[in-house]
Amino acid sequence: MNKPLKQHLIDPEICIRCYTCEMTCPVGAIEHDDNNVVVNPDTCNFCMDCIPVCPTGSIDEWRVVNEPYSLEEQYEFDELPEQGEIAQAAAAPEGTEDGDAEVDPVAALLAEAHAGAGGKAKAPASAAKPSVNLYNLGHPVEAVVQGNYRLTAESSDADVRHIILDFQGKPFPVLEGQSLGIIAPGADAEGKAHLPRLYSVSSPRDGERAGYHNVSLTVKREEGGLCSNYVCDLKKGDKVRVTGPFGATFLMPSDPDARLLMICTGTGSAPMRAFTMARQRSVGVKPGGMMMFFGARTPDSLPYFGPLKKIPSDLLEQHLVFSRMPEQQKEYVQDRMLAEEDRVAEYLNDPKTHIYICGLKGMEEGVERAFTTIAESIGEQWINLRDGMREDGRYHVETY
Ligand code: A2P
Repeated sequence: MNKPLKQHLIDPEICIRCYTCEMTCPVGAIEHDDNNVVVNPDTCNFCMDCIPVCPTGSIDEWRVVNEPYSLEEQYEFDELPEQGEIAQAAAAPEGTEDGDAEVDPVAALLAEAHAGAGGKAKAPASAAKPSVNLYNLGHPVEAVVQGNYRLTAESSDADVRHIILDFQGKPFPVLEGQSLGIIAPGADAEGKAHLPRLYSVSSPRDGERAGYHNVSLTVKREEGGLCSNYVCDLKKGDKVRVTGPFGATFLMPSDPDARLLMICTGTGSAPMRAFTMARQRSVGVKPGGMMMFFGARTPDSLPYFGPLKKIPSDLLEQHLVFSRMPEQQKEYVQDRMLAEEDRVAEYLNDPKTHIYICGLKGMEEGVERAFTTIAESIGEQWINLRDGMREDGRYHVETY
């Protein structure tokens, strides 16, 4: 009799084909064709490296099977197969006592898969539980555009927009730090619907306008970008197809005493805005500190530059850092972190600190180097600190 095994699969209805998982997989178990991204059951070693890097969570799918789905079968999936019945005798996982009637072996194997899932990136212990994948490419939800405002000065080359979407009473629960997908209209060269593009939500859970359950996005127009141009050109009243919500780890702790150290560039500020607004709205609570390092080329091209000025410094300590100011030395977020070594060290030393890094992938290396130096100044090794924070769900990175 076949021994049942857990198989790692990818949900083709949620996956946005960014291939980040394939690039991350250390053993080359993930591959794709024009249709799907698939996992080779003979090669996958369940290391879980691909789980935290997936922006949608489509990677985190598991089935207990007697015979794994082959690559050919997975390439043909339009949707994931349901978890089938597994004969109980065949399904008893290793180490399960005969007669242990309490244990559902399929559930046990799936739970084992999920024990590692999200492995390195955990949600903060006190975060609210997010809803994910309520809508997908086959079943999107329609939202109506309530507003589209330019966030950067007209003089700036960067056209970054604040887009407000209203779900017209349909459920679309989002927590700060989650993202959603937008499906551009039309079809690709092969006549297939465009895949959704992901955007971080920049409004707090109770809505861009408190109690209205609308959401805002922070979107930069990219030259030649199909979806970013579509979104940046949207007009009030336009209807948009939306998928998601996505994201189960880059979440804000509900613990009001948690301190947030936020490091971002450009549109990576979207979740930081959501966090800040959520705390601003928590009337009667004196929240733990928030410190933000935010990098852009110039003040003109820094999204939310004006509104940020109005946030009191006892709520949010801001370090706005500019790389292309005339007659000023180029400065990146990591340079300012080093200049503010003592303040950052104070955060690193506090077990209530949560770190969020969002924006350009390139900044990760420099930020890690800055943390290494700052950790040394307090007699700590950054790698140990970071891994401990990850383990606690206090270290979150979302870069692109
Ligand atoms: P620069 O482009 O001058 O090198 P935006 O999205 O508005 O362009 O903002 C991105 C900001 O991040 C810019 O100021 C950009 O500077 C900066 N940046 C570019 N590369 C890095 C890096 N490796 N580390 C930190 N910041 C970076």
